[in-house]
Amino acid sequence: NYYAILMAGGVGSRFWPVSTEDFPKQFHDMLGTGDTLIQKTFTRLTDLIPVENIFILTNERYNDLVLQQLPQVKQRQVVLEPAMRNTAPCILYASLKIQKENPDAVMIVAPSDHWIEDEKTFSKNVQQAFDFCSENNALMTLGIQPTFPNTGYGYIEYDKFSTKGIKSVKQFREKPDYEMAKEFINQGNFLWNAGIFMWSATTVVNAFKSSQPRLYELFEKGISTYNTNFENDFIKDNYPKAENISVDYAIMEKSTNVYVVAAEFDWNDLGTWGSLYDKLDKDESKNAVVNSRTLVADASGNMIRTNDDKIVVIDGLSDYIIVDKDEVLLIFPKSKEQDIKKTLQSVKDKF
Ligand code: GDD
Ligand code: MG
Repeated sequence: NYYAILMAGGVGSRFWPVSTEDFPKQFHDMLGTGDTLIQKTFTRLTDLIPVENIFILTNERYNDLVLQQLPQVKQRQVVLEPAMRNTAPCILYASLKIQKENPDAVMIVAPSDHWIEDEKTFSKNVQQAFDFCSENNALMTLGIQPTFPNTGYGYIEYDKFSTKGIKSVKQFREKPDYEMAKEFINQGNFLWNAGIFMWSATTVVNAFKSSQPRLYELFEKGISTYNTNFENDFIKDNYPKAENISVDYAIMEKSTNVYVVAAEFDWNDLGTWGSLYDKLDKDESKNAVVNSRTLVADASGNMIRTNDDKIVVIDGLSDYIIVDKDEVLLIFPKSKEQDIKKTLQSVKDKF
């Protein structure tokens, strides 16, 4: 009864210029392991989930990339979104589909672009959650011990008195401001939301029914078309009408039956060049260098990714992101990495 929804519809704009709208980061081998991020995620899930029960949700423009990179997957497992509407619509749509196929389904919802090396412990924690949500009406997430007031994450306040591995959640707060995040960390009983969720199909569908009735009604009309020749028309006509909202705001913040499993493995969401830098091998001066023909002198802490066909010399520059990809050369301070998204927009407007 185990299923998975793999979310692969984001564009990874903070990894520009490697990640682009035509070829987003989940389809790149960002870590230099020989596998792309979506391939690594898929393999990690197959430890617990049968291959045919893993659904990939992505934008219609990435269909070919998905099928090329995951040859084990059949077209029926790839749900193609005609428009980007963030994670809530994609999760509800896939959950209704899975529920129709198997009303007793228990599932994991996972982003396709995270770094998790300890796959054994990952499976162990997911199995704990599966056991719990098979028996309980629970919306579960994986929680990560926070290390600094990151404002790009969701925060989970758990009940101090729940001692077991699975903790009951008092409040879920998506992306607080800096002051609030600092306060959460000082309080101690907060975890970061890893953005990996576990629940039964029934529980998540009911959560949408009560917290997002309009979205629920929009997609519920289409259940009879699922896995028929009419499904394509249904999704083309209706998906774009869905509100653009993430699952965190849509149901997690609004529900009272939320539980968290504290992850016992290291996790990194590879959201920015800086987080990728943390995971790559570094030279003596702490530069992460992807091109073998790079000469670095008096430079440290740089994230350097250029092409082997070019000799690159860097002297006297520290803590920078230097990325050369096709027609774009990006030289950006690491401390401002969050601004790459904005910069990309200015570039698009200008050129
Ligand atoms: N299919 C599909 N369609 N996938 C999408 C879409 C969409 O429209 N939009 C985003 N995704 C995918 C992204 O590719 C990514 O893998 C995942 O959904 C999460 O989206 P992000 O845009 O990366 O979310 P976030 O980083 O702002 O926040 C989430 O993740 C954090 C941890 O990394 C939240 O769940 C936070 O609470 C959490 O802390
Ligand atoms: Mg993210």
